[in-house]
Amino acid sequence: MSAPSITLLEAAIRVLRAAAPDEKVAAAQNAALLQEAAASLGEIGEYAPPDRPARPQQPALVSPAQTPRRGLGSQEGRAALLHAIGHIEFNAIDLAFDMAVRFAGAVDALGLDPRRFVTDWIAVGSDEARHFGLITDRLNALGGEYGDFPAHDGLWEAAAKTRHDLTARLVVAPLILEARGLDVTPGMIKKLAAVGDQKSADALQIIYDDEIGHVACGRRWFHKVCIEQGADPTATFLMLKEKYVPGVLRPPFNHTARDQAGLPRLFYEPN
Ligand SMILES: [Fe+2]
Ligand SMILES: [Fe+2]
Repeated sequence: MSAPSITLLEAAIRVLRAAAPDEKVAAAQNAALLQEAAASLGEIGEYAPPDRPARPQQPALVSPAQTPRRGLGSQEGRAALLHAIGHIEFNAIDLAFDMAVRFAGAVDALGLDPRRFVTDWIAVGSDEARHFGLITDRLNALGGEYGDFPAHDGLWEAAAKTRHDLTARLVVAPLILEARGLDVTPGMIKKLAAVGDQKSADALQIIYDDEIGHVACGRRWFHKVCIEQGADPTATFLMLKEKYVPGVLRPPFNHTARDQAGLPRLFYEPN
């Protein structure tokens, strides 16, 4: 096999720099293919992700209160829900590739394996690109497309607050925000099936099963990093949760999925 022309971190940066949805998805798939071809990581420390990943002109980003909320009984209501989920998946592509690029150097400095870190998060980001495709396929089937509805920027804003801190990013992105998806997705699957949209329900089931693995990946790295830093994982998690995303972790929790992902109960039910 001939040597790949770009490194894994360069491939990951291309994802962050791609604005158009089809270009971002293609860049994510390309990074995953390079990874399968055992492309090199390149010099760690030479790479800095863009402050903010490139995004398409649409959807317009608005405050959460201005995002559409409609019942699932109508086709438009289902399209609005699928659009909101698609937007989360689109953000999740950037969050995973930003994790790989931004924090590979910090992982290396701790004496942990940066190659493993980067490949783990490229694999997550490639899942997110596939999820975005599954959801936009359903949205297209309902006559809509990504960009039709306004969306909010909360996910990226939460991530941006932790751009200088690997431990905090692991707490906020996979262990709190992605884990929140595990709590709410089974209810959405049931509702979509109840209104007869089994295909959308099936797409969400695939996403749900994958997301357990993403939370598990975050938990593994969080524990490794805490151990290297001589920090207690539970105390660290609770401190960073309060500092960056107070009030976000709210019951009811999906204990089955959280247990499968290896999330300690003391992280989210400390009392
Ligand atoms: Fe996802
Ligand atoms: Fe995910």
